[in-house]
Amino acid sequence: MTYTSSTVRVPEVAAVPRHIAIIMDGNGRWATQRRLPRVAGHTRGVDAVRAVVEGCVERGVEYLTLFAFSSENWRRPTDEVSFLMRLFISALEREVGRLHANGIRLRVVGDLSMFNERIQDLIRRAETKTARNTRLTLTIAANYGGRWDILQATRKLVEAAVAAGEPVPVTEDTLGQYLAMNYAPEPDLFIRTGGEQRVSNFLLWQLAYAEFYFTDTFWPDFDRDALNRAIASYTERERRFGRTSAQLETQSQNADSLSC
Ligand code: IPE
Ligand code: IPE
Ligand code: MG
Repeated sequence: MTYTSSTVRVPEVAAVPRHIAIIMDGNGRWATQRRLPRVAGHTRGVDAVRAVVEGCVERGVEYLTLFAFSSENWRRPTDEVSFLMRLFISALEREVGRLHANGIRLRVVGDLSMFNERIQDLIRRAETKTARNTRLTLTIAANYGGRWDILQATRKLVEAAVAAGEPVPVTEDTLGQYLAMNYAPEPDLFIRTGGEQRVSNFLLWQLAYAEFYFTDTFWPDFDRDALNRAIASYTERERRFGRTSAQLETQSQNADSLSC
């Protein structure tokens, strides 16, 4: 189990984020600006995913989590939702071989019961095929909602207590092991493209101490350079996790003297 709560223990901080989580926003506006149908932006968005996955591998990022479809996106026009489902299927069919060849593990998180059998089957097969890969874990959040995640974890914790026939302690660690992304550390860097500055029910629990980075760039235009700019911004942040700058300074001086 990799998940540990940043509010319980101060995590190790590296120059490059171990885990980047992205809200890929602005596909529709990218297309509208070009007088194209909104869905053309979603198609181009897949190219941006490829570029960002490659960029993350290059930079040594261990976990990349992409918000592809929120639990609220069902509210969109039926045509757009069907298009997104077809795009999801074709991306799974076309990209998994390449991901596997590049040592990338694919995971999909969200309430998958809402997807049709074909999608669920493709997801299961892709996850199984890539399960042993270690270069990068790419998680696609599909029909995901942060509140859904916290609620489903709570339900599982209660069910475990019922099955055990005794109360189970309710702590960040016991709840955390049932969260959809229990296999990953919390995101270090949260990126949202497309200019909006909101979380839109993404990883509510896990973003507790993430560094936030917002850019006006629409997702289809977000490339490796844009990713590197976001990482550069992250590198300049001082992650205090509740402590003071002076404490961090003392800690790094102690580490320096130990390594001499
Ligand atoms: C993000 O782009 C993709 C999904 C939510 C599936 P949008 O489709 O939200 O693009 P805008 O925000 O309307 O431009
Ligand atoms: C968030 O984008 C969800 C995804 C990127 C998949 P939206 O474009 O749906 O978010 P809101 O509704 O504008 O907050
Ligand atoms: Mg949007």
